[in-house]
Amino acid sequence: MNTQDQLQETIELLVQKGKGILAADESDPTIAKRFDAIGVTSTEEHRRIYRSLILETPRLGDFISGIILFEETLGQRTGDGTALPELATRQGIVPGIKVDKSKGPLALSPGDEITQGLDGLAQRLEAYQIQGARFAKWRNVYHISDTTPSRLAIDANAEMLARYAAICQAQGIVPIVEPEVLMDGDHTIEHCAAVSEQVLHALFHALHRHHVILEHTLLKPSMITPGKSYPQKAVPTVVAEQTVRILRRTVPAALPSINFLSGGQTPEEATANLNAMNCLAPQPWELSFSYGRALQQPALQAWRGEPGNVMAAQAALYRRAELNGAARRGEYRPEMESAGG
Ligand code: 13P
Repeated sequence: MNTQDQLQETIELLVQKGKGILAADESDPTIAKRFDAIGVTSTEEHRRIYRSLILETPRLGDFISGIILFEETLGQRTGDGTALPELATRQGIVPGIKVDKSKGPLALSPGDEITQGLDGLAQRLEAYQIQGARFAKWRNVYHISDTTPSRLAIDANAEMLARYAAICQAQGIVPIVEPEVLMDGDHTIEHCAAVSEQVLHALFHALHRHHVILEHTLLKPSMITPGKSYPQKAVPTVVAEQTVRILRRTVPAALPSINFLSGGQTPEEATANLNAMNCLAPQPWELSFSYGRALQQPALQAWRGEPGNVMAAQAALYRRAELNGAARRGEYRPEMESAGG
């Protein structure tokens, strides 16, 4: 198959009605934080057990079309010796890989950060592809404060994300581009909207400059909300209107799907906000999810590292995926949270 056909096939597998992506690609420091919260030490074996549990969830593929894995997971196997990417494929779930090498300070630009990982990326992608990865993810972060993100941070990060996307497509790997405007701070929803609009404009200009094919790209943005420390939360209809308004201004219709991150929203908030967007008029792109915490939190809480809790954890993950599947169709109702099965 040529590269273009390969990209197209992966897009069709990832973008399906009623389904979204599960982000299970926490880096070692991040998974250690998540495990700490449930009293589990983050060893390689515990991470293998937990991520096997996720992928062994019966019928997870009903609502999950793709899973983003961390490099270590790509090489791990279940108890019976099945490689985890292979297990994903058997579930009808496309395996993907986080390829950025994490963020750090943007030199001489106080408060801004930049994501690294371009060096050797083409070679790493070849190896990941052999291990089964068909798509990739790269995350940039933008801090909102009185002075950030600077123009420089917006432009430099857009350039990195576009170069990553081009390298992926040349290799037949679908890139997910993730510009995350962080929720930290006490800023208004209008401030978040203004920053997000600039970030997305710069990103799509850069993608164009780098010849990235939008039809073979997925966008993973943050939703437009007030800062976490802002005194009042915005209701789902407001988050939905603000988010879709900015996306319509900045994201070309050629892009097939927008898969949001949850970014610190509770599982219920993330589902309700996505649902509200899918209750608006039809948009040129699919509006879906690529949640990490908002899908996994209830499962982690149910598991707590106990073998006897595996089925309860899988049930919690399946339920959250199912509710987000409903939100994909605009059919979620908060009452469903307590409805059980
Ligand atoms: P959250 O949904 O927890 O924000 O994670 C998504 C993700 O992949 C961050 O890079």
